[in-house]
Amino acid sequence: MTRSILVTGATGYIGSHTCVCLLEAGWRVIGIDNLCNSSPRVLSHIARITDRELPFQVLDVRDHVNLCRLLQREEVSAVIHFAGLKAVGTSVSQPLNYFDNNIAGTLTLLRALHQHGVRKLVFSSSATVYGEPKHVPITEDAPLSATNPYGRTKLIIEQCLADLRQSDPEWRIATLRYFNPAGAHETGLLGEDPRDTPNNLMPYIAQVAVGRRKCLTIFGNDYPTPDGTGVRDYIHVMDLARGHLASLERLFNKPDSFTVNLGTGQGVSVLEAVAAFEAACEKKIPVRFSGRRPGDVASCYASPESARELLGWRAEKQLADMCADHWRWQRNHPNGY
Ligand code: NAD
Ligand code: WQD
Repeated sequence: MTRSILVTGATGYIGSHTCVCLLEAGWRVIGIDNLCNSSPRVLSHIARITDRELPFQVLDVRDHVNLCRLLQREEVSAVIHFAGLKAVGTSVSQPLNYFDNNIAGTLTLLRALHQHGVRKLVFSSSATVYGEPKHVPITEDAPLSATNPYGRTKLIIEQCLADLRQSDPEWRIATLRYFNPAGAHETGLLGEDPRDTPNNLMPYIAQVAVGRRKCLTIFGNDYPTPDGTGVRDYIHVMDLARGHLASLERLFNKPDSFTVNLGTGQGVSVLEAVAAFEAACEKKIPVRFSGRRPGDVASCYASPESARELLGWRAEKQLADMCADHWRWQRNHPNGY
């Protein structure tokens, strides 16, 4: 039987792009997703890009019985675990859903993997675990804290994974702290398709550009940053996908676990992001300023050095590529999939 990689959250934004990367690199991939925040139409788009089918099952990571059935049936040698809820604001109003989906879901998955002898895992963490960073660029040894229930789920899962590694050195776990994923597949066939009003900057700008929304509200122009707007580290989703490939390869080749930032190391302000998107779509994006969004920090960007040293990985695409690809996807799919 060929070794397979199980991808949870396979039809989601980052999961779908990573599946493309894995299939193109020759891995056998099995996808699962409960489709609570994605469309099964993603699968035909992945097949069109890669010319390969992605075996897929609608499955919730909290469903222990069916996870075990799948793991009995398939020879899974590693898991990339994307499945989870990610809206910071909703996590504040519905913390129990976030604890259940993200924490209980991950624990159920880990128990099933443990039972079936799978000991390699790549986990989607987030720069949110740095809370309010004291210094930028942020290195992996910076203090960790949670500023909202979503962030707490990532922090708690990271801690559970550390305990698991401690208990059994057979586990090889890659914890990847993503900064701000943006962009889309260069074909314009895959991209981010938020179900509700986008919380994140790039999808919001893209929906203004395509005419679905009138105006971008910029949250704060009085930050201690060069132009007063928030500074972030936007990273192309395909660079992020390649980071998963590099992590997986390392897990198979080296008997250790690691935690790395996946970011570019470049800070970009909201106004710079808007200007870059305007250049890509050749339209003016109407903006208005409002007060700061609660919980936002002034500036957050990665030191990508550990990822370079440990994985030989670095982000290759620029902000202009992210905007051009994001725009191609949005223009081709004004209403999503
Ligand atoms: P997404 O919502 O597009 O993808 C997540 C997928 O998981 C969705 O397809 C959803 O249907 C599925 N899912 C949710 N709960 C599930 C469950 N219980 N069982 C099975 N499937 C389930 O989000 P994304 O942007 O692709 O994020 C992927 C991962 O990366 C998440 O864990 C997220 O927290 C993390 N992350 C995302 C960002 C970001 O800004 N996009 C940043 C840092 C970390
Ligand atoms: C970026 C900048 C906003 C929207 C969030 C999560 C984090 C991670 C990534 C999952 C900020 C400004 C935004 C808008 C705006 N997700 N903005 N108007 O806040 O860095 O991180 O997504 O792990 O956990 O918190 O990203 O895209 O929401 O905001 O002015 O309509 O754009 O204030 O400065 P953020 P973002």
